Amino acid sequence: MRTMKIGIIGAGMVGGTLAHLLVPLGHEVAVSNSRGPASLEGMVAEIGHGAQAMTVNDAAEWADLVVLAVPWRTPEALPPASSVAGKIVVDAMNPYRAWGGTYDLGDSSSSEETRTRLPGARLVKAFNTIYFRHLATEGNTSLPEAERRAIFVAGDDAEAKAEVAGLIRDLGFAAVDAGTLRDGVKLQPGAPVYNQQLTGAEARKQLAGG
Ligand SMILES: NC(=O)c1ccc[n+]([C@@H]2O[C@H](COP(=O)([O-])OP(=O)(O)OC[C@H]3O[C@@H](n4cnc5c(N)ncnc54)[C@H](OP(=O)(O)O)[C@@H]3O)[C@@H](O)[C@H]2O)c1
Repeated sequence: MRTMKIGIIGAGMVGGTLAHLLVPLGHEVAVSNSRGPASLEGMVAEIGHGAQAMTVNDAAEWADLVVLAVPWRTPEALPPASSVAGKIVVDAMNPYRAWGGTYDLGDSSSSEETRTRLPGARLVKAFNTIYFRHLATEGNTSLPEAERRAIFVAGDDAEAKAEVAGLIRDLGFAAVDAGTLRDGVKLQPGAPVYNQQLTGAEARKQLAGG
């Protein structure tokens, strides 16, 4: 496993959970939020060596790989496009409106919209279909992949997708390829696989229409 510097934008339920899981795997993690690094001192202390808090911009600049775990509806929460250009960027966001329901994006997927916001990023949609408490507890590296809980990846950059799939497997989940960034609509809220507790084998079957 290649250890990386991982910048997490949004240190709430999903971002905080990923930070707690990735440091024990040997990665260095920088967490960031809207309130600034001082507000994340407790989280960083709890995670221990390998975790630090930064501003959004600094975390994105510092990282090899960036995770977006902020509300999709607030593009101002994203780091500057220049800070993530050429980097693998994991989009864990879902296009929920502030007061319930989701945005109608026509033919587009929410991650394609994210790519428009961050041109040059090597975008991979992942971690968006799994409830954060399940992410914290359901990884199990001792199981064969077909029996592990599925986490999906979608994207147009095969190498970036493979790197993120590797992270997912290292966390003890099955990495299930859902196709292109456009195919990411199959992973959005309301889709059959969204928030379902599927094994890798079940998830592949479900995506294939069975
Ligand atoms: N909750 C889940 O189980 C789950 C599962 C899969 C995917 N998701 C998706 O993951 C994303 C994050 O969800 P969450 O449940 O983790 O939300 P959350 O607990 O509310 O955390 C959101 C994080 O985003 C930060 N943030 C908000 N506005 C910001 C801004 N303008 N600049 C910088 N940071 C900002 C918040 O920082 P402050 O606290 O400082 O404002 C907070 O750290 C959403 O798109 C959601 O749809 C959630």
